[in-house]
Amino acid sequence: MSFKGRDIVSIRDFNRDEVEHVLNVARLMEPLTMGGSKMLDGKVLSNIFFEPSTRTRLSFESAILKLGGNYISIPESQVSSVVKGENLVDTIRVLENYADVIVLRHFLEGAARLASEVAVVPVINAGSGGGEHPTQAMLDLYTMERELGTIDGLSVALVGDLKYGRTVHSLAYALSLYDTTLYLVSPKTLEMRREIVNDVSNEVTVVETNEVGDVIPNVDVLYVTRIQKERFPDQEEYEKIKGVYRISSNTLQNAKSNLIVLHPLPRVDEVTSDVDYTPHARYFKETWYGLVTRMALLCLVLGAIE
Ligand code: NCD
Repeated sequence: MSFKGRDIVSIRDFNRDEVEHVLNVARLMEPLTMGGSKMLDGKVLSNIFFEPSTRTRLSFESAILKLGGNYISIPESQVSSVVKGENLVDTIRVLENYADVIVLRHFLEGAARLASEVAVVPVINAGSGGGEHPTQAMLDLYTMERELGTIDGLSVALVGDLKYGRTVHSLAYALSLYDTTLYLVSPKTLEMRREIVNDVSNEVTVVETNEVGDVIPNVDVLYVTRIQKERFPDQEEYEKIKGVYRISSNTLQNAKSNLIVLHPLPRVDEVTSDVDYTPHARYFKETWYGLVTRMALLCLVLGAIE
């Protein structure tokens, strides 16, 4: 198994052994978040984000800094030549001269794949439209493993916008590599694409429902997502559906005592702030696991760890 020089475009490009390897390397990274390291001394990461981001962009920046490297970033691509009409391929051809790894977020589903085919340096997909978000899925798995001790045997509910939410697409595929049960909880109009449901159902048990209350007593992980307002072709549709699920400490009364609530963040109103003070909340801890998972990925694709 070799990660050196490898692109991270889709979670489907990885088998279980490879995902487990990433999680094992993430564990090695944990102590380095305190003391730092020189493992990636001299290496430069370039961020290029065509959509807003807080956690993904900053955690990649923090990750490379903690490993002794550095980053260059175009803030949301507003001030670069992209606004002058430069195409993505040209931008990538330039960036690869400045950076050892490119982290790309784009509003088009195929953008990361295209960039990876052009670039000589590894490209990491930091979110491709309503398609995928593979590094988020890896950090979600890592959070489950660290907080619950195992991924095999878990029942996981993915709740919210399963149609446009890219994190849940990658996570459903990732969980299907393990012995898991998946509950897909969404309004009818925001169900997960049939293609993904079919693929994942070939590997694990999948239960689809509109009612979050029914599944809460059964699950170990409640993975809540934001309704992806910006991807609705019709804003009236968004207005109709927003606020459809609202998880509060009340909603969690029938939950298993060790249930964890995850969320890729940002949240709008789907998890109320009183949940923050329950023993179930893990979404802020999850952002720290995101840092170590991304440190691991950078070490691997840049060849600092086999
Ligand atoms: C997610 C994304 O960008 O897909 N955010 C993230 O990376 N943590 C989720 C979202 O925007 O709702």
